[in-house]
Amino acid sequence: MRWTVARTAADATPGDLLVFPVFQINDEADLKLLTAATGGVAGGGRALAAAIRKGGFVGEAESLFPVPCAGIKAGWILVAGLGKAEEVGLETLRKVSGLAAKRARSMKTARVLIQLPPAGALGFDDRSFARCWVEGAEMALAPIGELKTDRPKAALLPREGKFLADGKRAKALREGCDEAGAFAAGCLFARHLVNLPPNILTPREMASRARRMARAEGLTCRILNVAQMKKLNMGGILGVGQGSRQAPCLIDVQYKAPGAAGRKAPSIALVGKGVTFDSGGISLKPGAGMDLMKSDMGGGAAVLGAALIAARLKLPVNLRVIVPSAENMPDGLAVKPADVITMASGKTVEVLNTDAEGRLILADALWYAGRDKPDYIIDAATLTGACVVALGFHFAGLMSNSGPLIDALKQAGGETFERVWHLPLVDEHKKEVQGTWSDLQNLGKGREGGALTAAAFLSAFVDDKTPWAHIDIAGPSWAASDHATGPKGGTGFGARLMARAIQILVS
Ligand code: BES
Ligand code: ZN
Ligand code: ZN
Repeated sequence: MRWTVARTAADATPGDLLVFPVFQINDEADLKLLTAATGGVAGGGRALAAAIRKGGFVGEAESLFPVPCAGIKAGWILVAGLGKAEEVGLETLRKVSGLAAKRARSMKTARVLIQLPPAGALGFDDRSFARCWVEGAEMALAPIGELKTDRPKAALLPREGKFLADGKRAKALREGCDEAGAFAAGCLFARHLVNLPPNILTPREMASRARRMARAEGLTCRILNVAQMKKLNMGGILGVGQGSRQAPCLIDVQYKAPGAAGRKAPSIALVGKGVTFDSGGISLKPGAGMDLMKSDMGGGAAVLGAALIAARLKLPVNLRVIVPSAENMPDGLAVKPADVITMASGKTVEVLNTDAEGRLILADALWYAGRDKPDYIIDAATLTGACVVALGFHFAGLMSNSGPLIDALKQAGGETFERVWHLPLVDEHKKEVQGTWSDLQNLGKGREGGALTAAAFLSAFVDDKTPWAHIDIAGPSWAASDHATGPKGGTGFGARLMARAIQILVS
């Protein structure tokens, strides 16, 4: 959508639908305030008041009420409930905007006007309002089903969103729109990769899509092939990949802070799990729900999305994004339980379960990321079912050796509503992954605390002195059904979170 700001009055502005966000109405006095506000634009307050009263609309959060209104050029008002004023958060705006955008689409409207709440009515500024509103709509409207053959050819509606506000508020609103454009694009890039079927999105295809994105955004991109990974002794990535006819690879995207300040800018490495399909390998998964394992590259997609956002916003950071990509399949030559492999760092690992493959490819990628001694390393991975058991679908697990990183990611997640929950990373779990026949083993002693032993395993491949955070996104990376800000499928979880965390870390 194209987003603009107009100073013209709501009743006189050309459009097809006027979205009018309102707070919850508790009594007749509130209703008067609401009808006065909407009546002011509609030039027909009484009729609107009657319709709202009759329709039983009270402005509960996420409720919508469309009313035809002859008094305004747009012809229709969509009253959108924000809920109680004191409870409106950034995510409320994204959700209400997403639902309103979807309703606008079903009403086949092309031009949507948005009446801005009065200055000071909300607990945040206009820039945040526009950022969340635009983000919510863009995420909600993202098309899916590109592989359906009966897709309509017409351009998707709505095409245009216009905030109605006086001139003093325009600059902040425009800045919010621009920022939201970048954040939504990063999220949607990640979602799209997650939704692609695994016969299309092979490791090689993931690499070529990363390269295409990098070119478009002015980033550099290097893809390490099997021969190059062999030179680096990347036994983890090669070991996982050896059971598949699809060759594994390592994607390495770099973004340099613009201008002279670039040399002094902090360096951050993002590492994302890129398993394009996880059958479990020789430790084969059960058939039910195995299709979901096309989403096992959600961490890789998220870090690439974060790079896209960083580039569009020209963030003052030197960023390196590393995605080890492989397909985990059973085969005569596949890695099997009891195999001992040697990792790029030189450490030996006994593979006790070939379904714990994410930590093996990440171990090599974390070692690779650590070679430059970055100021921070963050990895994101759909790593363990145990994390989903512990936290469910609405929180990612966060394990880290650094207080400042934990704080930055918690703050970022609160703002983008990609919430993280801090979990322990301690010696007891590190002991559990010490090997019997080798330095390490890829399983803890039992199933208990599986997300924590996985993180403990990864920590063996990161320098203790490098601030590092591991985000287990196995739960929130996939939505089982449609929701306010998107359809069923990949959520893009992590792209906005990591980009926002970078903003916080470099500010
Ligand atoms: N990709 C899975 C984890 C996963 C589970 C992601 C559910 C998304 C939703 C991972 O590779 C895996 O299979 N982990 C095993 C580890 C176990 C063998 C220690 C698991 O969680 O069962
Ligand atoms: Zn697995
Ligand atoms: Zn996996």
